[in-house]
Amino acid sequence: MKFLGLEDKVILVTGGNRGIGAAIVHLLQSLGAKVAYTYRNEPHPEIEAFAVQADVTDKTAMEMVIEQVEQKLGMIYGVVANAGVTCDRLFHKITSDDWDTVIDTNLKGVYHTFSPIIPKLYEQGEGSLVSITSISGERGNLGQTNYSASKSALIGLTKSLAREAARYGVRVNAVSPGFIETEMVQAIPDKVKERILAEIPLGRFGQPEEIAWAVAFLLSPIASRYITGEVLRVNGAHHT
Ligand SMILES: NC(=O)c1ccc[n+]([C@@H]2O[C@H](COP(=O)([O-])OP(=O)(O)OC[C@H]3O[C@@H](n4cnc5c(N)ncnc54)[C@H](O)[C@@H]3O)[C@@H](O)[C@H]2O)c1
Repeated sequence: MKFLGLEDKVILVTGGNRGIGAAIVHLLQSLGAKVAYTYRNEPHPEIEAFAVQADVTDKTAMEMVIEQVEQKLGMIYGVVANAGVTCDRLFHKITSDDWDTVIDTNLKGVYHTFSPIIPKLYEQGEGSLVSITSISGERGNLGQTNYSASKSALIGLTKSLAREAARYGVRVNAVSPGFIETEMVQAIPDKVKERILAEIPLGRFGQPEEIAWAVAFLLSPIASRYITGEVLRVNGAHHT
């Protein structure tokens, strides 16, 4: 049965070895896509997909990833720029290293992920790019000036690239998660977590699979074919 039309589509997910990335890989596979993912340290212990070790801050490495995936699985249709980090600290305590690590990974890393594939997608005349921004990039968050700056910038990137890419049949969107139960959120102190939970109308943190469904929808050449330049919030009404 044709569902989201992702059957046999080649899709690359960065940081697919754990958390939200692993949920995206798993869901896309179950929807019939041919999925490859990158990891920085260790591949996922169970997911059977083409896995390539690469750091998104390394432009050459990311160019090689695209080549390797195409050689192994065929022409890429979709890319999910999921890899991201936090280095949380109040602004007056932030170091240049904290700043650079977050911007280099979350913003420049997305540039490194999308730039080698975009000419190929233009030539193909179809494709879908999705990045993962954040509620912190939309409304700000204490201790996350660097992270919020990187994630807000992704929204600008999404909107501008969508305008450039539309004429080639390529769509560019972002998913903006609220607080999702992964290692990133498990690292938040309990007291702060309680405060955050009290602000979420749906009364709970999100699950990685709930982000994966939003990504699959935006990748779909059927379900979201008239959607580009959008930011899809998945946050339990935490920020609307
Ligand atoms: N968990 C949340 O509540 C939440 C909320 C909003 C947005 N996000 C975003 O969702 C994405 C996934 O987050 P997560 O919660 O699964 O976090 P996570 O820490 O569990 O996973 C992050 C992934 O990114 C990879 N990564 C980090 N730096 C990298 C680098 N330099 N090169 C290659 N890979 C790198 C890690 O190896 C890991 O696979 C991130 O972009 C994050 O900012 C998460």
